[in-house]
Amino acid sequence: MPRSTSPNPVTTEPEESIEHRIRTLLDQMTLGEKIGQLNQLQGTDGPASDELIREVRAGRVGSLLNQVDVSTLDELQRIAVEESRLGIPLLVGRDVIHGFRTILPIPLGQAATWDPDLVEAGARMAAREATSHGIRWTFAPMVDIGRDPRWGRVAECLGEDPHLASELAVAMVRGFQGRELGAPDSMAACAKHFAGYGASEAGRDYNTTNIPERELRSVHLPPFRAAVDAGVCTLMASFSDLDGIPASANRFLMTTILREEWGFDGFVVSDWESIPQLCVHGLCEDGREAALAAALAGIDMDMVGRLYEQHLSTLVADGALDEAQIDLMVSRVLRVKFRLGLFEQPYTDPSRRLATPPASHRDLAYQAAVRSAVLLKNEGELLPLAPDRFRKVAVLGPLAAEATEQLGTWIFDADPSLSVTPLEAIRELVEGEAGDGSRGEVRHVRVLETGRSRSQSEFGDAVDAARWADVALLFLGEESVLSGEAHCRADISLPGAQEALLRAVRGTGTPVVLVVLAGRPLALESVLDQVGALIMAWHPGTMAGPAIADLLFGHASPSGRLPMTLPRVTGQIPIYYAHRNTGRPPTPDSFVHIDDLPRGASQLSTGLTSYHLDTHYTPLFPFGFGLTYTSFRYRDLAVRPTETTPDGSVRVSAVVENTGTRPGIEVVQLYVRDPVASVTRPVRELKGFRRVALEPGESRAVDFELSAHSLAFPGRDMNQVVEPGRFDVWVGGSAEASLGGSFTIVDRA
Ligand code: NOJ
Repeated sequence: MPRSTSPNPVTTEPEESIEHRIRTLLDQMTLGEKIGQLNQLQGTDGPASDELIREVRAGRVGSLLNQVDVSTLDELQRIAVEESRLGIPLLVGRDVIHGFRTILPIPLGQAATWDPDLVEAGARMAAREATSHGIRWTFAPMVDIGRDPRWGRVAECLGEDPHLASELAVAMVRGFQGRELGAPDSMAACAKHFAGYGASEAGRDYNTTNIPERELRSVHLPPFRAAVDAGVCTLMASFSDLDGIPASANRFLMTTILREEWGFDGFVVSDWESIPQLCVHGLCEDGREAALAAALAGIDMDMVGRLYEQHLSTLVADGALDEAQIDLMVSRVLRVKFRLGLFEQPYTDPSRRLATPPASHRDLAYQAAVRSAVLLKNEGELLPLAPDRFRKVAVLGPLAAEATEQLGTWIFDADPSLSVTPLEAIRELVEGEAGDGSRGEVRHVRVLETGRSRSQSEFGDAVDAARWADVALLFLGEESVLSGEAHCRADISLPGAQEALLRAVRGTGTPVVLVVLAGRPLALESVLDQVGALIMAWHPGTMAGPAIADLLFGHASPSGRLPMTLPRVTGQIPIYYAHRNTGRPPTPDSFVHIDDLPRGASQLSTGLTSYHLDTHYTPLFPFGFGLTYTSFRYRDLAVRPTETTPDGSVRVSAVVENTGTRPGIEVVQLYVRDPVASVTRPVRELKGFRRVALEPGESRAVDFELSAHSLAFPGRDMNQVVEPGRFDVWVGGSAEASLGGSFTIVDRA
């Protein structure tokens, strides 16, 4: 990969001036003060402890995280600026992952919007709210590629695909960091977790990964590279190891790739105590060894581990670590502080404090929630519900009226009192202001205490309500606590008695609409035939209610598309669209299901191709899939020119037509395949996408510029290569798009 040459896109102070200020400051710093800049400590909920005050005053703290109380934060900042010898301001970080007070859909839900502009606006909104509370650094975006929905952290990621995740990573970096990093409402972003965390074995958090370097470079690194090129200020090391070397001691990642290949000049923070954990991994004997390993690898800041604080000065004194290495690490931290304008404006501005976020933030959260919902099934056009046909509405399930559970993971600063639940919004829509039943009526039964409950004691009430109703709306799925860090599942079907509830309600014959709120794709094959319509809403955030109600009753139309493949059953995982072909790919002819095996079937009777006997080899729904309230048809695919060189490009175009009777938004997707190469390549890879709004009957030609450069991959020698030969392309509405063509890359010679 070529070294990044782009200037930092978000600073206005000339870089030379910043570099000069860094050198001047470094010259004045004692070793202890330098090490202080590399030390990040946990903040406080209330007043700061005397010890913390002393440490800040002594210049032994460079950064705080989770310092939520603003007056304490300002006081600590005042001590750092006015009472420490050199007056270097603190950098205050926090997990502002999908909103601060106002909560947007979880990042995976945002990825389902396939809408970089909206995602950027969402991060901007979060930055405005968080910076008004003194937080100038967020630990987002998480750009780990998520291909195992058992892993609870897929909730925080941007999906399974490197292209989609890269586009959205850039959008989030831009949103958080703003046009001008020094503006008081901008915050430093942090691309995490570098790198490969998404490959944690068995989808179990913190687990070992096994990622060949080619896979690392092709799948896991691109979103980080995109974030670096977009000017992201910081990266966070992954908890995981890579080929036996934990990321926090991995020089190949932190220095060879990040610094030497990509030219990153911001700083890298460890994850929480991930430097001391080098001993737990079995890599280091003690804290001193761990601190040395991390510093030599290229970890600049120690998050809460306190090992830099304890050991770096003796390591320098003993000659184990060169002070020049410390200077390098400190200069990276100072560079970010200067770029943020912290020296000029260290304090929060009380006039900017957003006690209650403005209504525009809820409008944005509403838009994001609407666009993140993916309509997966809509039998007989059950949706949108016609208000005159569906006047009696049963709202059932444990997630219909849960102001907090609809927000998802990482919501430390959320204000659940801002939440509007589906029940509230549906009531308002169906019953109107009068609420006397003259317009319509809603009956609500929670049925299950939590989504995990197994008791069926209230099933009778749910069945009665469904019998009474014209339609039963079920809100099932996962509470917030079932996804996120350290919240992994071995079975990703609906928890507890939810499936039984669905069957009981279905038994009434009343049409059933299932709305799934969850932090991950769920395995829903066994319930699909129980429902007339199915919406995957993820954890939609503050405005879940109005968004879902409007989608159900046709005041908004679904436009989300799956950012991760939906498996049929957990055992199919990992299942993702950009797999390689194998030498024996399954085919409809070779596939034999276990139920169809005759007694005494011989060993060779099952087709000898790559599938499980007890489930189909396809997913339940493919990556990129999502229905709307209309239909689209694709035609006239053209590739021009049909031949290009490794530094050229082609234009791929196709016409998409709204063939239904309602307006709708299609997400037009471009996929390619390199069918023969020096290393085997994925059967399809996303290379472009565009959201297109079409009126009924309207057609639009959509074209994509596809550069040969974007087809490069790590070749046999691990260098990026564009290999001449034929490439297949498809344009359509999911990873299973069928309208295809091809072009050829010819050698320059
Ligand atoms: C651990 C998590 O892995 C990371 O994503 C988060 O930013 C830090 N803790 C700080 O809370």
